[in-house]
Amino acid sequence: MREVVCHKEDIHPGKMRSATLGKIPVVVCRTKDGEFYAFANRCLHQGAPLSEGVLCGDTKRTDIHGNYEYIKDGEILRCPWHALEYDIKNDGAMLAEPDKKLRSFQVTIEDDQVVVYK
Ligand code: FES
Repeated sequence: MREVVCHKEDIHPGKMRSATLGKIPVVVCRTKDGEFYAFANRCLHQGAPLSEGVLCGDTKRTDIHGNYEYIKDGEILRCPWHALEYDIKNDGAMLAEPDKKLRSFQVTIEDDQVVVYK
C-alpha cells in the first residue's frame, strides 16, 4: 500500500502532521536534519493521537553533578495525553520502555512528495 501525504515543504523540519495510509492513521514527522519518519498515530498507552503532541528533545546527565544537556532536539515525540515519549530515530522506541515501539512505516520522497508505504 502506498499513500502520497503532501509536498515535502508542507512539513517543516521539527514539525509533524497526521495522515492516513489506507484506513491506518499515521503521523509523519520531519526531524530538524530534514529526514522523514512515519508511525501509527496512536500512543501505546491509551491511544492518544500522537500528531497532537510535540516534537521535543531529551535530557542527558553530564559528568558534572546536577548538570544535564539537552539532546535529540526535535527527535522525541511526546504524547499529548500523559507525556510518554518516543524516539523517532530509534524506530519509535518508548523512552521509558525501549522494548516497546510504535509501528513504523517506510517514507520516501518522490518528486518532492512525501510518500508513505505499508
Ligand atoms: S495515551 Fe499517550 S501517554 Fe497516555
